[in-house]
Amino acid sequence: MSDFLEFTRVVCGYGDTTVVRGVSGAVGRGRVLAVLGRNGVGKSTLLKALSGVLPISGGAVTWEGRRLGGIPLHRRLDLGLAYTPQENVVFGELSVADNLWLHLKDRNETRYGRLFTMFPLLPRRLTQRAGSLSGGERKLLSFARTLGLRARMTLIDEPTEGVQPENIERMAEAIRERRADGASFIVVEQNLEFARAVADQLLVLDHGVAVLYGDARALTREDVEPHLAI
Ligand SMILES: Nc1ncnc2c1ncn2[C@@H]1O[C@H](COP(=O)(O)OP(=O)(O)OP(=O)(O)O)[C@@H](O)[C@H]1O
Ligand SMILES: [Mg+2]
Repeated sequence: MSDFLEFTRVVCGYGDTTVVRGVSGAVGRGRVLAVLGRNGVGKSTLLKALSGVLPISGGAVTWEGRRLGGIPLHRRLDLGLAYTPQENVVFGELSVADNLWLHLKDRNETRYGRLFTMFPLLPRRLTQRAGSLSGGERKLLSFARTLGLRARMTLIDEPTEGVQPENIERMAEAIRERRADGASFIVVEQNLEFARAVADQLLVLDHGVAVLYGDARALTREDVEPHLAI
């Protein structure tokens, strides 16, 4: 049961509107699940349910055998779970450095050593106001901050949106390195290339249901693309 996130026939939405309608899956230690699908199909809604920030109206979500509902957010990080929403919050008035160390007790740079090597833009901009970064750079900052938490399970929503191709490749590398150390990820993505570069398993949603779920190596581009095209 350790480092194991399982979701079974999850149903959730907003008020009277059901968005996710009975989606199941599981992610074990050192595994990466990518959640794909067109705009508005419920990817972010599912991730909110898996992180526990959105109550579910049906099914179950368990982390290491324990139901997440009702566990306060700050406690989830102590349990090994990190969640970064799509429209992530970098604090524009704070410096890049303050954003990176915001949730951390120490100012130890070794925490970000590898990430700073991979994304030299970040150490170069440490004193700059985060609000002055471009959209893609802010995504990179929140990606680095999330990975800096070194959670056992990281849920991250569209990390590559607006990011330069070169940095997207490095993001994939960063995830693969963490995976090799046993960390697990659930990554929501629209970028199929990135998803295939990091994921062991793919889950493709359409209108709130899973239309494909399986081993990333067994699902070809031709299997997945029809569900992503407009
Ligand atoms: N806070 C909210 N209140 C009400 N409805 C919402 C809310 N957030 C999302 N929705 C609706 O739920 C549906 C699914 O949205 P969701 O954000 O999960 O899609 P998505 O697959 O993540 O899309 P995108 O690729 O654009 O990020 C949409 O119809 C959206 O309008
Ligand atoms: Mg979304």
